[in-house]
Amino acid sequence: KQPAGAPDPALARKVGKVGIVGAGLMASQMALLFARRLEVPVVLTDVDQARIDKGVTYVRDEIGKLLAKGRLSRDQANRLTSLVTGSPSKDAFADADFVIEAVFEDLAVKKQVLAEVEAVVGPSCALATNTSSLSLTAMGAELARPERLVGFHFFNPVAVMPLLEIVAGAATDAATLATALAVGRTLKKSSVLVKDAPAFVVNRLLTRFMGEVVAAVDEGTPLETAEHALDGLGLPMTPFALLQLVGPAVGLHVARTLHEAFPERFGVSRNLAELVAAGKPGVYLPDLTLDAE
Ligand code: CAA
Repeated sequence: KQPAGAPDPALARKVGKVGIVGAGLMASQMALLFARRLEVPVVLTDVDQARIDKGVTYVRDEIGKLLAKGRLSRDQANRLTSLVTGSPSKDAFADADFVIEAVFEDLAVKKQVLAEVEAVVGPSCALATNTSSLSLTAMGAELARPERLVGFHFFNPVAVMPLLEIVAGAATDAATLATALAVGRTLKKSSVLVKDAPAFVVNRLLTRFMGEVVAAVDEGTPLETAEHALDGLGLPMTPFALLQLVGPAVGLHVARTLHEAFPERFGVSRNLAELVAAGKPGVYLPDLTLDAE
């Protein structure tokens, strides 16, 4: 089923190769998913070879797990392994049809990355961003063709979470949107189509929920009480385990974006800000790690 407001699916362009900027955990999970579902070559790039190797190794390990579980045959595993490669240069995207960036959540970095990608890809390549909160309009402001930029926001863990938030920027054209929706369908994700806005829709809801839990702890509720109180509601994960999964730095970034846009509706936890500024684990969970995207 097409989400509300979707353009004519016939406008979608064929995707025969995917490029991913970034080879961190989320990007590597995306690489595996694209290769498995689209059955096309996927190239990962990052700033150094060690990061690229780490990303490709992660994909291979995950393929090994799927093979061991019987989800893939040996032939399928071999084919999948050959589809995912790494490259130190974005030139490897020259013949890609869909390039997605999953680099650190920083507007200037993302703009720079997108400009570099635009310089090498062909005219019909879609440019996607996995941003969880940044403005697509701002991100595309200096692109030669901002109409091919679309938000393509995955949720952790990428392999498991059914949701995909597809963001239409003010400039995004119908063909790019149709392509993004078609890719989302092939990935077997359930897409919501939303407009460009601070933190879009999903993280606005999630931040409201998480923000209240964190605020309760800031105000003196013991962590265990907050965790226990929510356990009984049947959530798949306790709030602080979710914060750990997402990464407190990412959570803080989203909270700040929303606070700037709607200061009366969204606060920023002082403890969370201090935790991230200190760059060390520890305030809420003894083994909380700062695992940025
Ligand atoms: N990669 C691949 N597969 C994974 C995985 C990962 N990181 N984590 C879990 N899985 C798989 C497991 O292998 C298992 O698969 P099989 O059934 O095929 O064996 C399946 O998921 C279930 O795993 P578990 O039984 O170990 O664990 P679970 O049933 O407790 O589920 C969970 C784990 C899916 C993470 C669940 O706790 C959950 O849904 N949590 C909520 C996650 C969530 O809300 N994410 C959104 C975060 S917001 C965000 O990401 C975006 C942002 O912009 C900030």
